Amino acid sequence: MSILSLAQSRFSVRSYSNVMVPAEKLDYILECARLAPSACNRQPWKVYVVTNPDVLSVLQGAYNRDWFKTAPMALVITALHDQSWHRPADNKDHADVDISILAEHIALAAHEQGLGTCWICNFDPQICRKALNLTSENEEPVVVMPLGYAAPDVVAPAKSRKNTDEVIVRLN
Ligand SMILES: Cc1cc2nc3c(=O)[nH]c(=O)nc-3n(C[C@H](O)[C@H](O)[C@H](O)COP(=O)(O)O)c2cc1C
Repeated sequence: MSILSLAQSRFSVRSYSNVMVPAEKLDYILECARLAPSACNRQPWKVYVVTNPDVLSVLQGAYNRDWFKTAPMALVITALHDQSWHRPADNKDHADVDISILAEHIALAAHEQGLGTCWICNFDPQICRKALNLTSENEEPVVVMPLGYAAPDVVAPAKSRKNTDEVIVRLN
């Protein structure tokens, strides 16, 4: 599938079948994540693969939605703020930018593999920390991504995006 086709057809999946993600598909998605670019190639991230039912159960408490509980597994992407690039001009930490690219690699790779996911940032970070047993203040959970096959009744919604002329500014 072309990048354009992936971008056109990917959507946030909020209802999953309980079929487990095949190991080879998971490995493929994680390799796409690992290859993501980052500022100064610092790669200031970790990807936690949560399949353990007890850990998953605590993690579900960090984002208490029935639909999230339908996913057979989840990925949690953390930022390592002591490894990320800080722009010298203003010390801006680029960890979130880096994490976003990695997460979108995951989203597009999952979609290409016939799986679904959804970015989740509206989670409780303290509960997420507890689930993963994170103790360092330098490591921050940034994105939670359920992963699995979309439930059979899931239908792709119509794309709702701003028009090109609202988004693209050409300075010819
Ligand atoms: C940074 C970010 C955070 C998001 N957080 C949540 C979230 O906490 N819960 C949720 O249901 N969707 C979340 N989403 C999904 C967006 O709502 C969704 O991507 C957007 O509405 C466009 O829909 P689409 O992904 O189906 O194209 C998030 C997306 C992004 C990029």
